[in-house]
Amino acid sequence: MSDPDERQDPGRRPRPRFTALPEWAGVSTRLVHGAGRPDYNAGAVVPPIYRSTTYHFPSGFSEAADRGGVYEYSRLANPSVEVPAELLRELEGAESARLFGSGMGAFTSLLLSLVKAGDEVVTLDMLYGGTMGVLADLMPRFGVSVRFVNERDARTPEKFLTPKTRLAVIESPTNPLLTVHDIARWAKAADAVGCILAVDNTFATPINQNPLALGADLVYHSATKYLAGHSDLTAGAVVGPEDLLSRIDPRGDYGSVLDPFAAYLLGRSMKTLALRVARHNENGRRVAEALASHPLVRSVRYPGRASAEEEEIASRQMRGRGGMVSVSVKGGAEMAERFLHRLRFVHVASSLGGVDSLASVPGLTSHRHLGEEELERRGIDPGLIRFSFGIEDPEDLVRDLTEALDSLR
Ligand SMILES: Cc1ncc(COP(=O)(O)O)c(C=O)c1O
Repeated sequence: MSDPDERQDPGRRPRPRFTALPEWAGVSTRLVHGAGRPDYNAGAVVPPIYRSTTYHFPSGFSEAADRGGVYEYSRLANPSVEVPAELLRELEGAESARLFGSGMGAFTSLLLSLVKAGDEVVTLDMLYGGTMGVLADLMPRFGVSVRFVNERDARTPEKFLTPKTRLAVIESPTNPLLTVHDIARWAKAADAVGCILAVDNTFATPINQNPLALGADLVYHSATKYLAGHSDLTAGAVVGPEDLLSRIDPRGDYGSVLDPFAAYLLGRSMKTLALRVARHNENGRRVAEALASHPLVRSVRYPGRASAEEEEIASRQMRGRGGMVSVSVKGGAEMAERFLHRLRFVHVASSLGGVDSLASVPGLTSHRHLGEEELERRGIDPGLIRFSFGIEDPEDLVRDLTEALDSLR
């Protein structure tokens, strides 16, 4: 047993701050250096993974209150989790960012923290299936009404947001049709009635689009997708001003906290986000162009392609269009399956945003809960395939897809 005096904490240092970067630093420099801070122990360049759930207070718990800014319990704050949060805060140009155990964890924490019985939430009738499910099933049980607005009506949000609306939730581009919504117009309409606008920025990523700069109040992400980028971890995030974020489950009491190891992997992956997204953008564009004229393709959905109006909005609010392309093939679900099974470089798998190209059939996976009739009504036909193009060589993907389609003619 060591001398109790020696075991005295010599005075724990406050949580070290992240080093501020010069204003002129570009996005990749920010991703590599943006979460740098001194490691007082070993001087490590790569931040260590802090697995400890608890932090010692040798002179008693009053110390926690006195010192402020020190770590106490990992659900409240963890040094490893702070690293990717800081990178995302930088990228979205936000005051604060918080990480969660999954995108749905981020979204439900946001929802449960910001709405109460009697409030109304306005959202789109075509969003990620899990988000729609929570809004449709959970909210009414707590006395919150939810209004789902269709694609056409979503062009004029000012007609649907009222002083009763507490929260508006949109995605752009949407899952799975890749429709682009006018974020600045939604922000203006939300502002006019004093409601909070939260935008799911998962598909665009902060490399291609910054909803906060367009007037949104909050941004949330499934960090499982492009931010993590390798289909090997589950995480979520909410980003925005501190006055709103401090209201979103500040103590992690809803339980959706990010594990430090997943946080470490996420921070590591985010260093290459700008490089990866540049290739995803190129691959999405090249394949969308190549498939649009194929005789077996009924239609191609790609951000901005649906109409001149959508193209105008996309070019105003997006720097790149991303790697997601939804393709409807002639011959319905059966032809879609045959096509998918002839591909060499595309895994048939749900999820998206990783370095490997993936394809799923939304009618059979993420949106199957809607049923055939509702799917058709919302423009999801049985032959619709949602592709998430990875970082393979663009010419190889184009060749793989066109050869597979040609073999079916
Ligand atoms: C657009 C979008 N938002 C949110 C989610 C939910 O994220 P997670 O699976 O990380 O909970 C998903 C998942 O597919 C998604 O595609």
